[in-house]
Amino acid sequence: MLDIAFAKPALPKSGALALLIHEGEKPSGLWEQLDAATAGAISRALEVAEFKGAKGKTCTILSPTPTIARVLAIGLGKPAELTGRIVEEAGGAIAASLSREPAVAVAGAALSAQQAAEVALGATLRAYRFDRYRTKEKPEDKPKLAKLTVLTAENTKAKTAWEPLAATARGVFLSRDLVSEPPNVLNPAEMAERCRKLTELGLKVDIFGLKDLTKLGFGAMLGVSQGSANEPRMVVMQWNGAGGNGRGKSKDKPVAFIGKGVTFDTGGISIKPAGGMEDMKWDMAGAGTVIGLMATLAGRKAKVDAIGLVGLVENMPSGTAQRPGDVVTSYSGQTIEVINTDAEGRLVLADVIWYAQQKYDPKFMVDLATLTGAIIIGLGHEYAGMFSNDDALAQKLSAAGQATGERVWRMPLDEAYDKQLKSEIADMKNVGGRPGGSITAAQFIQRFVNGKPWAHLDIAGMAWSTKDAPAVPKGATAFGVRLLDRLVADHYETP
Ligand code: BES
Ligand code: MN
Ligand code: ZN
Repeated sequence: MLDIAFAKPALPKSGALALLIHEGEKPSGLWEQLDAATAGAISRALEVAEFKGAKGKTCTILSPTPTIARVLAIGLGKPAELTGRIVEEAGGAIAASLSREPAVAVAGAALSAQQAAEVALGATLRAYRFDRYRTKEKPEDKPKLAKLTVLTAENTKAKTAWEPLAATARGVFLSRDLVSEPPNVLNPAEMAERCRKLTELGLKVDIFGLKDLTKLGFGAMLGVSQGSANEPRMVVMQWNGAGGNGRGKSKDKPVAFIGKGVTFDTGGISIKPAGGMEDMKWDMAGAGTVIGLMATLAGRKAKVDAIGLVGLVENMPSGTAQRPGDVVTSYSGQTIEVINTDAEGRLVLADVIWYAQQKYDPKFMVDLATLTGAIIIGLGHEYAGMFSNDDALAQKLSAAGQATGERVWRMPLDEAYDKQLKSEIADMKNVGGRPGGSITAAQFIQRFVNGKPWAHLDIAGMAWSTKDAPAVPKGATAFGVRLLDRLVADHYETP
């Protein structure tokens, strides 16, 4: 992780300097000092480049003084329209543009403590890289940015504001690491072991193996995993930041987050085509998000009682694999005719969601899953699909999405769609046909919601990105960690 520091504004003696500039802003502070030291070269260069401070615009000036290697001007747009996200994205632009510099100082726009911390967060998130398996990269090809010093008059307050954001960055990185890992390494058992490490943060972690799940009667989830040589796991992570999940000081019920953790989805006997199948290593991203979220809540000592539950399986075709036509009995007692073994995520979620309610009686539940290709057709890679039985919860999630940039768009639930799940032989079948494929998947999950406020986030289009965004490099995004951390921070923490 980037080494982050906060200091009072002063011209750096080496490295690069990033200047955050509002639209129409006149030189002041370090910008003015730099101009004075360079006979006005900075302002002149910006003028020649027609840089006016518009949001997201940047301009690089090489070697303006004998000691400063580069000055990077970044536009923040109009002061009245400034948001935390814009400041954070400016931080991201710094990490992207100045990755050849070992050290960067950031100044300008009279950064408040909170804004300074947001710059640090954006830069940190953008500087992420998964390079565990690169053994031959030349040192000169590696990004060099190691240290970022954000200059603000409120430097001590900024350090305090940075602490919870640093915990968020660590949670996001954990999630990105999990999602990036190859599927031969990250099987259900290994993923559960990575969860176990979170006890170091004060989380209580319980791991359920094949025997435990069989005893509980997780017939839907076990049907998915029966074709794999890698045994399934369910992991329950508890963070008792408000006193203890309804049984301690706090009388409040816990909040619950549930993730689909299919460590590789071949489709099973309803096997997927070969092209692009490697993408299905990230079919555990819902679980990866829940794990990163729990690490974040613990890391910043959030005053909330939260439970994170993940169902971890591998969906493989083999002589022991489940067949199209099989009928399984879920943990809820409801029977399911498995028409398509590739609609496996909902089978996993069905049992874990039922367990979450039986065991923990949560205040509400949010599940996350890379559930359907259809949601990518509907919403592309800009919004996750949100399905909810509770308007207030949906509203809070939408707002948290806008604030963090992890946006969600509400989709309908309706009895008319639910009818598509009727089976001739069992209580339901696991697919509802092509029309409204993401909706019938959500309807299926809703059959395992027992009167609790609930939201389902279909993140199939959001978990992995093929292009860089300001604070999210391409690859695993950790979509949902910041969204749900924000949901908790804004609404569910005790004062
Ligand atoms: N993991 C996939 C969904 C998916 C597809 C995620 C593409 C990310 C990118 C899921 O298990 C699946 O296979 N869904 C099927 C459901 C169908 C069989 C009803 C799908 O979307 O095709
Ligand atoms: Mn599938
Ligand atoms: Zn899947």
